Amino acid sequence: SAAEKGGHEYFMLKEIEEQPEALANSLRGHFSGGRVVLDEQRISDQDLRDIDKVFVIACGSAYHSGLVAKYAIEHWCRLPVEVELASEFRYRDPVLDRDTLVVAVSQSGETMDTLEAVRHAREQKARVLAVCNTNGAQIPRESDAVLYTHAGPEIGVASTKAFLAQIAANYLVGLALAQARGTKYPDEVGREFAELEAMPKAVEQVLSTVGQVRELGARLADSKAVLFLGRHVGYPVALEGALKLKELAYMHAEGFAAGELKHGPIALIEKDLPVVVVMPSPRGRAVLHAKLVSNISEIQARGARTVVIAEEGDETVRPFADELIEVPAVSTLLQPLVSTVPLQVLAAEIARTRGYDVDKPRNLAKSVTVE
Ligand code: G6P
Repeated sequence: SAAEKGGHEYFMLKEIEEQPEALANSLRGHFSGGRVVLDEQRISDQDLRDIDKVFVIACGSAYHSGLVAKYAIEHWCRLPVEVELASEFRYRDPVLDRDTLVVAVSQSGETMDTLEAVRHAREQKARVLAVCNTNGAQIPRESDAVLYTHAGPEIGVASTKAFLAQIAANYLVGLALAQARGTKYPDEVGREFAELEAMPKAVEQVLSTVGQVRELGARLADSKAVLFLGRHVGYPVALEGALKLKELAYMHAEGFAAGELKHGPIALIEKDLPVVVVMPSPRGRAVLHAKLVSNISEIQARGARTVVIAEEGDETVRPFADELIEVPAVSTLLQPLVSTVPLQVLAAEIARTRGYDVDKPRNLAKSVTVE
């Protein structure tokens, strides 16, 4: 009913709006006595300290949350991190031992490929930490440590609030590892956590401005394809934006690392093609920001329609943006929590305009419990 959907036409639209709450609930209780705390830990603190390599394994949007985690964990912990699709990981011969931490990210906790990857990792004595939105699901049951996200039940097949909660939880995993290894002082961990706690408000601010994105979505609904470009943590955001559009609007959409533009994607640029660019902060990542501006000007010179997601007050990018979508300034690593939101709204609105059921995209299942 409409009431269940909070007055929205689709659950997904309601779930997009629930993201500040999903984030706040997922952070609550995880910083206590000056320390980041997991929900369950069946390995010792010493085991965590001894970790010398991290794999993040997941499928779909959860995999994109893992790509974001790589930037944070490597930066905070000085540990090498590989992110891999669970379906690939388990059929390779990954090098694992008891000092490897495998972070399995799964909203449902029942995705078969992720579960089998967990089993594969444990057979080789790796430690497994589950990030999961479903209490007592199979993946957390078979893991050595668990961090639950509290996004609440997600009805829309395409993940939104659970995805944002996964990103937040992955940051907490990074902070827990940094604290165990001593690569961050307790007060630094506390400061990072405080920044995370400010994110629900920042997401709320994004949500208050999505009218512009809706209107843009309606205008882009006839496009044949949409490209998404980003760098650093904006790269996984671009991948997620493209995935959402494929899933919901059945449109050809590709996400690219902007630095690869010259190595192929630029051949796809043609007149009126919408290209969504996720800009890094001009303060936090000035060098990357300048490179992106140069990418956008090349794209625009070839007649594409540039849709730019940028930090508010970023004036340098304005001349190159046919459409400028502003998000609040947050620290570089946390930017995906704000920049993903307009892309979710864009995909939903394009799909709605095209007349598709946003909650139940064709051929897709909420959780894939077969291989
Ligand atoms: C399906 C869903 C996606 C989800 C993926 C992984 O493909 O449609 O939204 O990201 O499964 O699900 P999980 O429950 O493991 O996070």
